[in-house]
Amino acid sequence: MTNASTEKASGATGGLTLEARQVSVRFEGLTAVDTVDETLHPGEILGLIGPNGAGKTTLVNAMTGFQMPADGQVLLGDKVASGLKPHWFRRHGVARTFQAGRLFRDMPVSENIEIAAVSMGLSRRKAHAHAMELLEWLGLADRAETPAGVLPYTDERRVGIARALAVRPDFVLLDEPAAGMSDLECDEMMRVVSEIPGKFGCGVLLIEHNMRVIMGVCERIHVLDSGRTISRGTPDEVQKDPAVIKAYLGHD
Ligand SMILES: Nc1ncnc2c1ncn2[C@@H]1O[C@H](COP(=O)(O)OP(=O)(O)O)[C@@H](O)[C@H]1O
Ligand SMILES: [Mg+2]
Repeated sequence: MTNASTEKASGATGGLTLEARQVSVRFEGLTAVDTVDETLHPGEILGLIGPNGAGKTTLVNAMTGFQMPADGQVLLGDKVASGLKPHWFRRHGVARTFQAGRLFRDMPVSENIEIAAVSMGLSRRKAHAHAMELLEWLGLADRAETPAGVLPYTDERRVGIARALAVRPDFVLLDEPAAGMSDLECDEMMRVVSEIPGKFGCGVLLIEHNMRVIMGVCERIHVLDSGRTISRGTPDEVQKDPAVIKAYLGHD
């Protein structure tokens, strides 16, 4: 049986990073991500924002093996990982969620999480216990036996987070986890995201449109527009940046 902890690239290094180095992604005529640099560190929460179509999801795809960069590199520690498959990233401690669920709809919520843990080498029994802990933490314990397909959209996204964390990643990349949530649900999502680094020892990259959520949980923020980095800094710095204000006014 594979041991999850030895499979991860973290090993004894402690200083592991997930890095996009001069990454570009092109779709036919369109440059969706244009020479972007970013390094995600363990224990931090990095916000990735920008108007619709800015390239946020595409950058996350590139950093998780779902998209091959046309130029530049993705590195996990000092290992060049661009071109490797999503499966490799998952096994080496990089997990992500999707804007839309991608759960096994006929399978109970708990099993959706368990299979992720089993894929990392946990026994069925331990995987079940771990899934239940995650559901408890997310306030979804009473949904454990519900088929994932009947969950409301917002709960589906929370189960997606549990499933990503079930592989005990070093990095988790969350694609708009609070989209469509009420103010109260956003508060709850802020609690969940802000607890991830301490509870799971992960670095978090958070894509989110809700500025209250972004400003409330992120230590630093990277702003994309038309595939390019237009600003980066603390929430305060980014909010005041005329380039950011202009990008949002231009699009929304
Ligand atoms: N698979 C694809 N094929 C062609 N164009 C794509 C594809 N994925 C994304 N795009 C385009 O790339 C740009 C960036 O998209 P995306 O990364 O989804 O933006 P965001 O997540 O910031 O809203 C958009 O113009 C989008 O239409
Ligand atoms: Mg997106």
